[in-house]
Amino acid sequence: MSFDVEAVRAQFPILHRRVNGGELVYLDNGASSQKPQRVIDEVARYYREFNSNIHRGVHHLSQQATEAYEHARETVRAHINAEHAREVLFTGGTTHGINLVASAWGRRHLSRGDEVLVTAMEHHSNIVPWQLICEERGAKLRVLPVNRAGELVMDELEKLLTARTRMVALAHVSNSLGTINPVARVIEMAHARGAAVLVDGAQAAPHLQLDVRELGADFYAFSGHKVFAPTGIGALYGKLELLEDMPPYQGGGEMIERVTFDKTTFADLPHKFEAGTPNIAGGIGLGAALHWFGELDADAVAAHEQDLLAYATGRLKEIERLSIIGTARDKACVISFVLEGAHPSDVGALLNQQGVAVRTGHHCTQPLMDFYGISGTVRASFALYNNRADADALAAGVARAAKMLA
Ligand code: ALA
Repeated sequence: MSFDVEAVRAQFPILHRRVNGGELVYLDNGASSQKPQRVIDEVARYYREFNSNIHRGVHHLSQQATEAYEHARETVRAHINAEHAREVLFTGGTTHGINLVASAWGRRHLSRGDEVLVTAMEHHSNIVPWQLICEERGAKLRVLPVNRAGELVMDELEKLLTARTRMVALAHVSNSLGTINPVARVIEMAHARGAAVLVDGAQAAPHLQLDVRELGADFYAFSGHKVFAPTGIGALYGKLELLEDMPPYQGGGEMIERVTFDKTTFADLPHKFEAGTPNIAGGIGLGAALHWFGELDADAVAAHEQDLLAYATGRLKEIERLSIIGTARDKACVISFVLEGAHPSDVGALLNQQGVAVRTGHHCTQPLMDFYGISGTVRASFALYNNRADADALAAGVARAAKMLA
């Protein structure tokens, strides 16, 4: 099976709209991806045909909604190759998933003097929850450095993994640089020292085939909205024995077995971690998105994205005064750059005038920007529906901005 990018583009209605007089060139997929018609239809169908609350209802609509929601959980399970559907928790997104683990796992497993290791390229959402729980538990946050290319310094990992390391939390793919981290190797080394590993898969999910069992991850979090699904939904995978051992994160309905004023007992997995009415439409949308994504030839998608990465990188390198930030050997289709003498937000604003959507700023990775000694970058993040014409439009827009901002 090959990959027909134009056939894929045709399934995304928003890609056919115009912005500022030009055809939309959407290169802010790292922030949020667009949705195919199938996902839009499935979400609308839920509201149109069987909108109702799930799990407790005896009536027809509730049963239909429950079935659709749990079917979506099974789709997520299969997509990431988890062993059991109850290892898949629906969350509000990656940030929620990481906070859940930091809080519930951390309260159980972190004590004074213990260490949590993150990397220098983490998104704030994989730093701050760990800082909070470390402070609460008297544990220390350690940082694995990166090199100038934006790769993890793996020689340092050996030294930083100590007898006190309880958790290693790292991105599978860097949102700012596109670096694909050697996550399987990190997990192997962490496990050899008895540490658990949480992988932030927010930027990996739209680009890579996920297999939590092959990776050996203890926890794997990702967001729906970056993987062609709605906002406000995500998934957290956790190994069964770890999730079973963790105390609840939030209390409320859905997550209990029996409540009295003296004592409450909790529901089984996954409901123990899903207090309150969940994002039912979002869950159904996530299932539809992963189902849609899973029908594509993953190798052909990867080849298409790598071709785009090489092509767009080549086009941008032709522009004087432009430096690419993040030149790792193994990269997803994300290109961050700075233009000497120009503020990233000015470049972004000029690109927007031509209908080219990029993100500018620190991308919620301020420590990484500090490492490079910059305040931010312009980031073009591609998805499988982008094509070479998008890369050409980006390059032409940046060349124009370079002249205007000289
Ligand atoms: N984390 C998202 C990004 O990198 C918002 O743009």
